[in-house]
Amino acid sequence: MNDLRKRYLGEIAGAADEAALERLRVAALGKKGEVSLRMRELGGMTPEERQVAGPALNALKGEINAAIAAKRTALEDEALDARLKEEWLDVTMPARQRPHGRIHPVSQVTEEVTAVLADMGFSVAEGPQIESDWYNFDALNMPDHHPARTEMDTFYMAQAAEDDRPPHVLRTHTSPVQIRALQDCGAPLRIICPGRVYRADYDQTHTPMFHQVEGLAIDRDISMANLKWVLEEFFSAFFGTTVKTRFRASHFPFTEPSAEVDIQCSWKGGTVKVGEGDGWLEVLGSGMVHPKVLEAGGIDPSEWQGFAFGIGIDRLAMLKYGIPDLRAFFDSDLRWLRHYGFAPLDVPTLHGGLQ
Ligand code: PHE
Repeated sequence: MNDLRKRYLGEIAGAADEAALERLRVAALGKKGEVSLRMRELGGMTPEERQVAGPALNALKGEINAAIAAKRTALEDEALDARLKEEWLDVTMPARQRPHGRIHPVSQVTEEVTAVLADMGFSVAEGPQIESDWYNFDALNMPDHHPARTEMDTFYMAQAAEDDRPPHVLRTHTSPVQIRALQDCGAPLRIICPGRVYRADYDQTHTPMFHQVEGLAIDRDISMANLKWVLEEFFSAFFGTTVKTRFRASHFPFTEPSAEVDIQCSWKGGTVKVGEGDGWLEVLGSGMVHPKVLEAGGIDPSEWQGFAFGIGIDRLAMLKYGIPDLRAFFDSDLRWLRHYGFAPLDVPTLHGGLQ
């Protein structure tokens, strides 16, 4: 029995892993284990022999069990120590770069435009993209059969057979928001409305959907001079350099007088630079709001007057960020977006800079 004890306790102490321990347990205490077989022999012993051998075997069994349990705990501790040494986490390490999206230049420029004009006291107004014929045309002094209606290449909505109203349209400009804002807020009023507009047109500088920002300022004594100042301030802040403007007499049904506005630019080696040189680039339509438009908005034209303008946002983005083809704006090509897009945290503000 002493031999047995020595051998098993020695082998248990030297067991390399849990599997070896289990093999030893079976060899000693399993059904056919050496200790178990001895215990079975107790039956054939004389009572005297049994009295000695019985407790001794039981004690050996207990010793072996205890040794196995102690060794198991030691092995587990060792394994845990090894893991703790191996698998540690350096929480001071810089985080792994995660890919994240980019802000589209149209969104960025919309934010920039809004930041500049909000600083001048304009609030942001909105209107629907599916617009009634009245808001898009009639209220803006473009009655039925007015030639300006056909010039706009309008998309018309499908119409139910029994519906005898003129069909709704995808708004061809942001100007209907002038009427909505006047109706909702009355005068005096200073709003801008950035948003999507639609015309059936497609080439390098035209897409069927594009973006405008409408401006409207109504008060008792607003003049063309205020319009010119606002626009010059706007362009200089937006482009970050003094930008000269040129007002050319023009015609829009909803403004009288009307002016198209060009900004100063240079054309060198096929690229346009704003704020230098002796070239001009048309960027917007504007004018003094037509009395009929004020009336349609529920405002008395003998008391109130003001200016309105409409700028192409996509055109501004192309100019400011040197983007050559408008169509690429709407291709959803990720390579293009990674190149021309903006980091999500680059939110334009006047104090933080507009890029
Ligand atoms: N709505 C005009 C257009 O889309 C632009 C404009 C707006 C002109 C406001 C004058 C006043 O072309």
